[in-house]
Amino acid sequence: MQTITNGCVLSSADKMSFDHFEYKGVRFIKGMYTEEFLNHIENEFEVFDDDIYNVTFPKSGTNWMIEILNLIKHKGDVTKTNATPIFSRSPWYELPASQEQVQKLDSPRIISSHLPHHIFAKSYFKSKAKIIYTMRNPRDIIVSLFHFTKILSLYTPIENFQNFIEEFIQGKVAFGSWFDHVKGWMQMKDHERFFFITYEELLQDLRGSVVRICKFLGQELDDAQIDSVVEHSTFKSMKDNPMSNWSQMPSDIMDQSKGAFMRKGISGDWKNHFTVAQSEYFDKIYQEKMKDLNRSFFWEQSS
Ligand code: A3P
Repeated sequence: MQTITNGCVLSSADKMSFDHFEYKGVRFIKGMYTEEFLNHIENEFEVFDDDIYNVTFPKSGTNWMIEILNLIKHKGDVTKTNATPIFSRSPWYELPASQEQVQKLDSPRIISSHLPHHIFAKSYFKSKAKIIYTMRNPRDIIVSLFHFTKILSLYTPIENFQNFIEEFIQGKVAFGSWFDHVKGWMQMKDHERFFFITYEELLQDLRGSVVRICKFLGQELDDAQIDSVVEHSTFKSMKDNPMSNWSQMPSDIMDQSKGAFMRKGISGDWKNHFTVAQSEYFDKIYQEKMKDLNRSFFWEQSS
């Protein structure tokens, strides 16, 4: 089967390849998630009032925020955060394989999630728990995800970048449409227990961002403790840290001989991947899909 997009022929053989199922209109990777478990999470997962949720669309800086939040929790004490590999420190609660780790978390639990707003645990909305939602320029997400498909074994590596842009636009990637994800969560933007920040703000002013996050969480850290949070959550520190760079993950699940999880850690790498035509095409769709949000993001000025 072939479809035409932007004057380009998209053949099904080139499409992003992962076994998937759909739950409430959103794609999930088969073998990693299950419909039954998502249903359980949505309807039965118990949110505690002091929980902190680190919510993102994949490749938006989830792990960066895990590092920052855990360092804040432990007042910059890296010996505490380094006691556990990053993927177990703030497990994804929608992931069946992470349940034991979620049960073992001590209070306040820092829990990660890629779930869209309409599938999130219902008990959250009746709780006093907090959410930090990190967003990133979707073009850089496309690039990061494109490279990630080469190292995560559940994906077949993407060969055709043009097709992949189209798949992303159509929400045919894991966790569905980025546009819907952002629009769904931005409904909560004025809520006092919801804090949103962008990857680009973290890059531009990490210290200032850490201070703002501490304020939102009601955590008082002194200057030296904040310095420590910043020092240990830079790209270089995390890339060199075996407890943060995913090197503890077995290579049959994530093969970092094919590319690093901590890849580049910059903003604007999309310029090295998108052609002018692809960029203009994406921009047109972006404008159309985001127009109702009445909000402009950092990357809209710089892209
Ligand atoms: P790149 O592939 O563009 O380098 P997630 O954690 O949501 O999967 O996102 C992964 C992306 O965040 C990767 O982007 C990774 O390099 C980047 N990242 C992780 N920690 C970072 C940090 N401390 N500083 C900057 N970027 C970071």
